[in-house]
Amino acid sequence: MPGNLIAATLRAGLYTRIVGRRLLYFQELTSTMDEAARQAEADAGEGTVVVAETQTAGRGRFGRNWVSRQNNLYLSVLFRPDLTALPFLSGMSGVASVRAIAKTAGLKARLKWPNDVTLDGKKVGGILVESAISGDQVRHAIVGIGINVGLDMEDAGEISSFATSLNAAKGDQVSREDLLRRLLHELDAQYVRLTQGETPMDEWRELLDTIGQEISVTWQGDHYTGRAEGVDDIGNLQLRLADNRLITLTSGDVTLRKPDSINGT
Ligand code: BTN
Repeated sequence: MPGNLIAATLRAGLYTRIVGRRLLYFQELTSTMDEAARQAEADAGEGTVVVAETQTAGRGRFGRNWVSRQNNLYLSVLFRPDLTALPFLSGMSGVASVRAIAKTAGLKARLKWPNDVTLDGKKVGGILVESAISGDQVRHAIVGIGINVGLDMEDAGEISSFATSLNAAKGDQVSREDLLRRLLHELDAQYVRLTQGETPMDEWRELLDTIGQEISVTWQGDHYTGRAEGVDDIGNLQLRLADNRLITLTSGDVTLRKPDSINGT
């Protein structure tokens, strides 16, 4: 059984203002999102972090399964933002993940809209935000982050064609403790800025590989194809369709279109 990841993370010092005020560590959970939601309903404070070694029902966007084996990073962070800050939690977490990966592993990760963390076009991490809202009040928002650190790509089954891990990309072991500590620092710095009215969107936009690409987007059973022209102030995707209409998508699943499918050959 691996040693307590949080204890090891804290040994080197965690100097944050909000994120990590309380840290909860589990060998196994259904999902860190479930535990963080339980904590939120039990009035846990903003900044509570839930980390698990493995998840039996880890989930991604659109209710997809998130493969959650040993030696990776699975965490959820509880926030209590106001309604204006809520749309930026996802972007802020993408920026924090890319920064943490650069500082810990020396790898230049990028983002695929809205927030797949990628290395050389393969997914290395994902971000899920779930929130509970009553009227115009955010009761809580939970940011879930999963990063493939030591995922054995030989044994990763069907996901190995589009996913990678930090160790595989670096060709060396990346410390999960250092990554977790750095990620908590970066999330904290981003969130403190957000509470002061500074959004992460400029940096997030710079990290987005999707802009300028010919893409297909699937959203609630509908498919759209076109050129990703840009993103608006809160991160919605602006897609130029073949008939020249510009549409705005608030969410969706993006795939890059291959040049031959664009030419129709
Ligand atoms: C996605 O790209 O679809 C988002 C994946 C988010 C996975 C993380 S792992 C930690 C947290 N717990 C979960 O069940 N999901 C998120």
